[in-house]
Amino acid sequence: MKTPQFVQLHQPGDGRLASEAAQGLLARPAAVSPKFFYDALGSRLFDAITELPSYYLTRTEAAVLAGHGAAMGEQVRRWLGQAPVMVELGAGSCEKASRLFPLLTPGAYVAVDISVDHLRGALACLQREHPQMDLLGLGMDFSAGFTLPPELPGLGDGPRLVFYPGSSLGNFAPDAALQLLRDMRAAAQGGALLIGLDLVKPAAVLEAAYDDELGVTAAFNLNLLHHLNHLLGSNFRVPDWRHVAFFNAEASRIEMHLEARTDLVVCWPGGQRAFQAGERMHTENSYKWTLPALEALLRGAGFGEQLTWCDDNGWFAVCLARA
Ligand code: AVJ
Repeated sequence: MKTPQFVQLHQPGDGRLASEAAQGLLARPAAVSPKFFYDALGSRLFDAITELPSYYLTRTEAAVLAGHGAAMGEQVRRWLGQAPVMVELGAGSCEKASRLFPLLTPGAYVAVDISVDHLRGALACLQREHPQMDLLGLGMDFSAGFTLPPELPGLGDGPRLVFYPGSSLGNFAPDAALQLLRDMRAAAQGGALLIGLDLVKPAAVLEAAYDDELGVTAAFNLNLLHHLNHLLGSNFRVPDWRHVAFFNAEASRIEMHLEARTDLVVCWPGGQRAFQAGERMHTENSYKWTLPALEALLRGAGFGEQLTWCDDNGWFAVCLARA
């Protein structure tokens, strides 16, 4: 049996993340990156979100992959040959990839996540199921650009299948999304991209997915305040804030905000910020596409032939695009 390899590319220290968060709090309007959702509790709250009846994304994508994964695998083999290297961005628990292995038959798998520690357990587990596969866990923050270092062990220089599921691209504004897609195309080395993207649908369906009846998404959004207190030493009080989520049709995105319930001042070592009752802090954008917009986006990033599969409602798309 082989053993997974792990590489952590430099991780921004708390200092850099803290000053990024402080800068966001001082902006007008205040805005902090959704990457600050994902402390240990935030990652668990996101996993809980994926089980919510109203959060259709994860289950709809899984159904599209289950229903059409065999066709995707055939196309991948036609384009890339047998046993390509598969590279997943934001791999986390590596669950989706492991379900796809029998269909996509990769020869090696690279799981990329912000922290290599998230990947250790998952890859150890995966190795037991696939004793002969080369597995690599790669810790890197690709929010500001994605390139695979050429000196990585066992990656080869052949075509690769880049996998970016879950509509995570939705967190990036159009320009940044286009740049990240270009980076993924380069990393594929003439191979292909398999990407899951959420589609525009009635606002009531979208808003229920981001403002659920159980309040799990509210907890996920509010937990960001705990994370900031920990990171920054700030004194946010969760009861002072309200979860707000709505579909901005013009920008084609769900927006999440935290809204101050009263006039308040937040302090941290080296800074402070006053909020008036009703004033908001922007915490997330989650872009939604139409099929033509998606096609144009991938073409704009330089991809060639595209094949797209959707669920019967046309709520979620999985696209295979030739790099
Ligand atoms: C992980 C970015 C795909 O935008 O749907 C879930 C995060 N935010 N509920 C999404 C999220 C609120 C999720 N992504």
